[in-house]
Amino acid sequence: MAQYARGSTVAVIRLCNPPVNALSRAVLQALEDGLKKADADPSVKAVMICGENGKFSAGADIRGFSSPERSGGALGPIVSLIESSEKPVVAAIEGVALGGGLEVALGCHYRIAHMKARMGLPEVTIGLLPGAEGTQRLPRLIGVPAALEMITTGKHIPATEALKLGLVDEIVEENTIEAAIRLANKVIGQPLGPRRLSLKPVPKLPNMEAFLDKALVKVKKQAWGCLAPELCFQAVRAATERPFAEGVRRERELFQVLLSSGQAQALQYAFFAERAVRRWATPSGASWSSAAPQPVRKAAVIGLGTMGRGIVTCLVKANIPLVALEQDLENLNKGRKAVMVLLEREAMKMEGGAQTLDFHNPARLQFTVDFDQLRDVDLVIEAVFENMALKKEIFHKLSKICKPGALLCTNTSALNIDEIASATNHPQQVIGTHFFSPAHVMRLLEIIYGRHTSPTAIATAMQLAKALKKVGVVVGNCFGFVGNRMMFPYIQQAVFLLEEGSRPEAVDQVLEDFGFKIGPFRMSDLAGLDVGWRSRKDQGLTGPSLPAGTPARQRHGQRYSPLPDLLCEQGRFGQKTGRGWYQYEKAGGRTATPDPWLLNFLSQYRDTHGIKTRFIDQEEILERCLFSLINEGFAILAEGIASGPEHLDVIYINGYGWPKHRGGPMFYASTVGLPRVLAKLQKYSEAHPDVPGLRPSAFLKKLVAVGNPPLKEWMSYLSQQSSKL
Ligand code: 3HC
Ligand code: NAI
Repeated sequence: MAQYARGSTVAVIRLCNPPVNALSRAVLQALEDGLKKADADPSVKAVMICGENGKFSAGADIRGFSSPERSGGALGPIVSLIESSEKPVVAAIEGVALGGGLEVALGCHYRIAHMKARMGLPEVTIGLLPGAEGTQRLPRLIGVPAALEMITTGKHIPATEALKLGLVDEIVEENTIEAAIRLANKVIGQPLGPRRLSLKPVPKLPNMEAFLDKALVKVKKQAWGCLAPELCFQAVRAATERPFAEGVRRERELFQVLLSSGQAQALQYAFFAERAVRRWATPSGASWSSAAPQPVRKAAVIGLGTMGRGIVTCLVKANIPLVALEQDLENLNKGRKAVMVLLEREAMKMEGGAQTLDFHNPARLQFTVDFDQLRDVDLVIEAVFENMALKKEIFHKLSKICKPGALLCTNTSALNIDEIASATNHPQQVIGTHFFSPAHVMRLLEIIYGRHTSPTAIATAMQLAKALKKVGVVVGNCFGFVGNRMMFPYIQQAVFLLEEGSRPEAVDQVLEDFGFKIGPFRMSDLAGLDVGWRSRKDQGLTGPSLPAGTPARQRHGQRYSPLPDLLCEQGRFGQKTGRGWYQYEKAGGRTATPDPWLLNFLSQYRDTHGIKTRFIDQEEILERCLFSLINEGFAILAEGIASGPEHLDVIYINGYGWPKHRGGPMFYASTVGLPRVLAKLQKYSEAHPDVPGLRPSAFLKKLVAVGNPPLKEWMSYLSQQSSKL
């Protein structure tokens, strides 16, 4: 709703739709009514628009876009109505003015903001463009370069920057509402023509055409297959080429194109999925609604290798005092140096720099090799080598040294949380916190509860994710948890495709064209082939513990490819050694080029094993890789390892580079149609009966049998009895 109140001369219209004053149909109607009332009342000389509860508005109601009565299209005419008012209208911006919220403010004749307010046009991030004339007004107000940047990236900007850009007229530290009313009173009677943005020309640039051409190249490059940034660009370009009314018409056309695109639906699904996973629950009944987190006043990180360094950086950035521990002085010094480099870099990016982070202060960040220093910490994150015996030894030590309430977290990427917890006296305090590399960059934190993990421990880990500005997703304990478990069949298919006749660059290209930032082979080279090799040796799949006489391409009666092991035996660990599935300019190099050695090696390998090479088309590459990953997702849901498909999708978007505009693997499956996914899996499974990853999951089959229900209903088909499908 919008509340209307009349002061002596200034009418106040307050947007109210908690929690973020989204512009639903009801709010828009009330806004329109308020404007008309103010217009009709001769004692009203000016109008002030503000939002309830210290927030202006987060824009159109995103849920409304999927309903037949969409709220988006109705907003433009109301913004015009505001602008055409004969009485000055002032926007009082507190909290956020985003999307349609900012477009309302752009219709106002004056804008005043609280200094902590944030503004932006984030429509592009949900697959849309500012569809209430924002693409036409913003360039007129702040110029094409700044408008293009805001509209094509969706970035939120702080009030101080908004003031510099001329987006707001004034910023205040105290009461924004009072300041806006003062301003409204002051401008009564002043001419409004110069304040109406639709009447202003777009500021000229010396060479607009050249600027736009260059900007388009950049936008396309960053869009990575996503449609919205380019259409946002086109709408702004229209502002530079056409009169306001025609520009608005173009904006509407482009908005409709996006609105009906599958990408907008996928991105909006992803927006809500990210919020839905905050409401975690476990099969035993623990949930976000009843569990309270415990405070983390001091933390520790054990192991300052690849992951530990990034984790330390995250914790320092979140202002959590910290002890960083290594096994010996040599590794400690190496780790400290690496941490300092990361922190210096992060500090450069922040306002206030090193002083804000305060990482040179030993009371905030202490380096040690002494476990005794961990006596008073509230939370420990272990990030030592992926070795069960070592992890158990460390957790046993922690359980003796740390205070009983301390949360003991492991960053293991696949090992059994219950087994690690068994080494402690407090298994209820043990939890997996699986960061992704680089830990200070990647947004995902996979949170794994074990059999004994307490609800408080889960709530604390979720609270930690929030403090670190990460997306926490709570999942159950199984080998590889959710993310890596779904990744195994994907990688396995990629390697099988090589055996059958494909090439690394062909497989990578198909998956990169689909939208992954990096295909499976480039990714393996980046992560290091030795990581998986070590794990397979530990599992007895390769190496000295493999029983003599095991067939080269079979393990436990299933198809196995020794190709990655053979590469490792040749010292080809990927980027770090300059050779892997590709060759690199040097050890540590990043530019992958196809390696003739590998092609030769593959052909010899096929000859040795009598594999007939065949041409494999793009469709087969895509389907075998993606559908096997999705198939594992259905198995995970059926086992109760994750409480919904949204969890899997949020994990894949934030931790594995799944293209967000395709909504995550499970959402993608729903768009392809489950019957098609099933039929293709059946076909591939028949061709490869020794590959369990291609055998359709019982849950997928059940969903197809009950008529391919929409994704949000899937979990209702998993009754207690059928959860052992
Ligand atoms: N529509 C509907 N619901 C919204 C919403 C919106 N525009 N913005 C937020 N919400 C909901 C969230 O889903 C969440 O609901 P939940 O509690 O049921 O999970 C609740 O409001 C609170 O949101 P957050 O949990 O995200 O709260 P934060 O404080 O972390 O963030 C925010 C607040 C920065 C406003 C963030 O919610 C946000 O970025 N919102 C989306 C803004 C946006 O994209 N606006 C553009 C809309 S499209 C548009 O305006 C089209 C126009 O050009 C025609
Ligand atoms: P790493 O080999 O780079 O670093 C491990 C560090 O632990 C080394 O610096 C080592 O000196 C230290 N360490 C070993 N024993 C120790 C002890 N007793 N006390 C203190 N420190 C000790 O390993 P990385 O890659 O950082 O992995 C760490 C953990 O994170 C592993 O469990 C791994 O599976 C997991 N992980 C790794 C990811 C990656 O991409 N590298 C991604 C996600 C999880």
